[in-house]
Parts: sequence; C-alpha cells; structure tokens
Amino acid sequence: MRTYFYKETFLILFISIIMVNLSSCNQNQNTEKPEFENKAIEAIMNRTSIRVYQDRDVNDDKINILMKAAMAAPSGKNTQPWEFVVVKDRETLDFMAEGLPYAKMLKNTRQAIVVCGDSIKSFYWYLDCSTAAQNILIAAQSLGLGAVWTAAYPYEERMAVVKEAIKLPDNILPLCVIPFGYPEAPQGPKKKYKPSKVHRDRFKGDSTEK
Ligand SMILES: Cc1cc2nc3c(=O)[nH]c(=O)nc-3n(C[C@H](O)[C@H](O)[C@H](O)COP(=O)(O)O)c2cc1C
Repeated sequence: MRTYFYKETFLILFISIIMVNLSSCNQNQNTEKPEFENKAIEAIMNRTSIRVYQDRDVNDDKINILMKAAMAAPSGKNTQPWEFVVVKDRETLDFMAEGLPYAKMLKNTRQAIVVCGDSIKSFYWYLDCSTAAQNILIAAQSLGLGAVWTAAYPYEERMAVVKEAIKLPDNILPLCVIPFGYPEAPQGPKKKYKPSKVHRDRFKGDSTEK
C-alpha cells in the first residue's frame, strides 16, 4: 500500500514537471523575442563587407539559396528585371579582377555572382536589382559566408569590362559583381547607427552636417 502511494506521488510529480515545462515553452513562443534573437535581424546587423576568403568552394546548395534569396526581393510593379550570372571560371574571375579597379579580391575567390538587369523590362532596373543584391549579401552572412558588393553600374568603363567578361547582350546591364566565399578571418560589422539620422514627423537635422 505504502509503495503504491509513493509510486503515485512520484508519477503526479513527474507529470506536473512536464506540464510546467510545456507551458513555459508555449509562453516563450508567444512572447516577442529581443532583436538579436531574431535570425533575420541578426544577419542584417552582423553583415559586413568581406574581401578575403578561404581557398574553398561554396557548394551549389548554398549558391541556390543565395539565388532564391535574391529573387525573393521586391521590385517595382513586380517586374523582376534581374538576371544573375554565377561565375566560377578562373579566367573570367581573373579578367574581371584585372579590369575592375576596386574588385581585386576576385583574384582570390573561387566564385562570384554578377547581378544584372534588363533595361528593356525596367528603366529603373538598377533599383530593383539593388534589392536583390542586398538580399544576396544578407543571405550570405546568414549562411556563414562573406561577400562584398563591387560596383559595375554606373561606371561605363567597369560595365564594359563585365559585359565583355560574361558576354552580356546589349539590353542586359551589370549592376555589381559580388565575390563571395568562406571568410578568411572573422570580422565584426562597422558601427553605423546614428540616432541623429532618424527624424520624427519632419526633418530636423542640419543639412550642412558632414
Ligand atoms: C553601390 C556600392 C558600390 C560599392 N563598390 C565597391 C567596390 O567597388 N569595391 C569594394 O571593395 N567595395 C564596394 N562596396 C562596398 C562598400 O565599400 C561597403 O559597403 C562600405 O564600405 C561599408 O562597409 P560594410 O559593407 O562592411 O558595412 C560598394 C557598396 C555599394 C553599396
């Protein structure tokens, strides 16, 4: 009889502990998480331009995620005027490194994405493609990769180099080349947040402020 009593008490105690744990799990799901526990905010806040990479391939699964992230971007009237060229060919990467003054890191990456836009589909293709390019940078950060936007548009000479490198037709214009890979060294984001840049209801800043 006594053993039975102990067993029953133990069972009730055990069930109560499980129920308390389950209910606290549910409460956590319902409460809003602080910003850095939110994966999207974390990736945005920690992204920084990465220009030195490990000598290691990024697999196609990860590259496909970058492409899906790019095409999830917003575009005016949902035109989606973008085209993406994934470049792994060593000669092509070196050719662009040679011709682009601020993209020398293409020499030491194994892959890059050229973000292009169709100027027939949209006269503001470069705006739509910028949202896609930014998505690539944030998705790369979230996947443990490092990437950097290197400019083609609006520099005619740089655009000509990229057009020749990847054989673009006349209406497809290059916005930027994004070299990426596994970062060689961990790098934190730059501190850029300035509360004075946020205005409430009307602009209250000093327009001459540098
Ligand atoms: C439109 C644009 C053009 C850029 N062009 C280059 C470039 O040609 N080469 C380069 O190394 N970085 C380039 N960057 C990256 C910036 O230098 C970088 O974003 C800036 O210094 C802030 O650093 P962060 O990205 O680490 O926050 C470019 C960024 C943007 C948005």
